[in-house]
Amino acid sequence: MSRKLKIAIVDDEPDMRESISQWLVLSGFDTETFASAEDALKVIGPDWPGIVLSDIRMPGMDGIAFLKRLMSTDSALPVILITGHGDVPMAVEAMRLGAMDFMEKPFNPDKMTSLAKKATHARRMTLDNRALRRDLSEGQQVMSKLIGSSPVMERLREDILDLGQADGHVLIDGETGTGKTLVAHALHAVGPRANRKFVPVSCAAYNDEALTSRLFGPMDDGLPALEETRGGTLCLEDIEALSEPLQARLLAFINDQASPSETRIIAISNARGEGRKAEDSLRPDLFYRLSALNITLPPLRARGEDILTLFNRMTEQFAEEYGCDAPQVGAQEAAQLLQAPWPGNIRQLINVAERAVLQNRRGTGSIVSLLMSDGDDNQQATTTEGKPLKEYVESFERMLIDNTMRRHRGSIASVMDELCLPRRTLNEKMAKYGLQRSDYL
Ligand SMILES: Nc1ncnc2c1ncn2[C@@H]1O[C@H](COP(=O)(O)OP(=O)(O)OP(=O)(O)O)[C@@H](O)[C@H]1O
Ligand SMILES: [Mg+2]
Repeated sequence: MSRKLKIAIVDDEPDMRESISQWLVLSGFDTETFASAEDALKVIGPDWPGIVLSDIRMPGMDGIAFLKRLMSTDSALPVILITGHGDVPMAVEAMRLGAMDFMEKPFNPDKMTSLAKKATHARRMTLDNRALRRDLSEGQQVMSKLIGSSPVMERLREDILDLGQADGHVLIDGETGTGKTLVAHALHAVGPRANRKFVPVSCAAYNDEALTSRLFGPMDDGLPALEETRGGTLCLEDIEALSEPLQARLLAFINDQASPSETRIIAISNARGEGRKAEDSLRPDLFYRLSALNITLPPLRARGEDILTLFNRMTEQFAEEYGCDAPQVGAQEAAQLLQAPWPGNIRQLINVAERAVLQNRRGTGSIVSLLMSDGDDNQQATTTEGKPLKEYVESFERMLIDNTMRRHRGSIASVMDELCLPRRTLNEKMAKYGLQRSDYL
């Protein structure tokens, strides 16, 4: 951002180019000279980091045609035209077409310096504003994909905004389909690296040899990921699949980086039960470096009412896409959705929502049947996950109280009322389940 801006000097007369350039360099500017407008256009495009100083009278494309071309690609580019004696009408025309100013030959060096200062200052403002706007919009776009307002979700949003500003490597873990990849992208998009590369690479999708060259090179074409993401973010998915030799190389790379983190690494781990965690499959020194910062995504079944919010939002989106009505979720269906185990988490919920919409369009079937028939073996809606009935009932009871407390913002009286519980029973149950009123206020 703070790189020095350039002044492009475009003039067909070599002496003129050189003397202008020398003067500006002496005044502390960076210059680049071009013998024709055509040459300059090969280099100057939108967002060009500098300003343009061009003669009006040139063989081939003249200064006015050049100005028109520049304005059509970047109308905020400051262009100063150099006019000969008696070119005033042309200069007026140039101003009308968007030139910032013009200078008459022979020029006054001080006026040239002050014009160059004014123009580079204006350019700096434009470029900074554009970068800022891009940061915001990309970051906002990704953030807006994150649906849900449960406390977990709100904390996640805050974490993303905080950690997005930081430079340390991040480890994201959580079950499949909980939003790890989306969150990694959000971390990149809300931070100062937003305009740099974000490159996801899955460690499980390549064999060792292919992964080595993908990460470290050499590659047949393009840059290896660790170079491509210098100043940006490398997202290493399925980090637990990284072989020992590659772990060693990655560790050496991290230790060799000059600044704490030229390439920021976001490692993603699919926590599939014990023994598959990053902590268990990575050498401790690498794990320690990668997990400087950590985000753990909760499984969908622990997100309480977010399940319903997500389901409603998703069915609305699909209904719009398919041009039909979204299915109504009644109390019983809501309870089914809330207590389903959701082993595939948000991805599974999106699938179920889409099928619920299609089913609704046909006018057949129930949401419950979708939950039952969803996918393979362990994905049954009302499974007790092998838990004894008592435990299962208790976890449902806890979720109900938790949800109701949340909805009533900790008003004990309202919760007693809704659940038809005497105060003492409610207090006992809350104590039993470790629920605290102060968490809901
Ligand atoms: N909070 C959220 N709100 C809405 N949609 C979400 C949310 N989190 C994730 N999603 C969506 O859920 C789907 C799965 O998310 P994502 O691919 O990021 O999960 P993952 O944890 O990386 O999965 P995997 O372990 O399979 O790589 C995506 O379509 C994503 O856009
Ligand atoms: Mg993923």
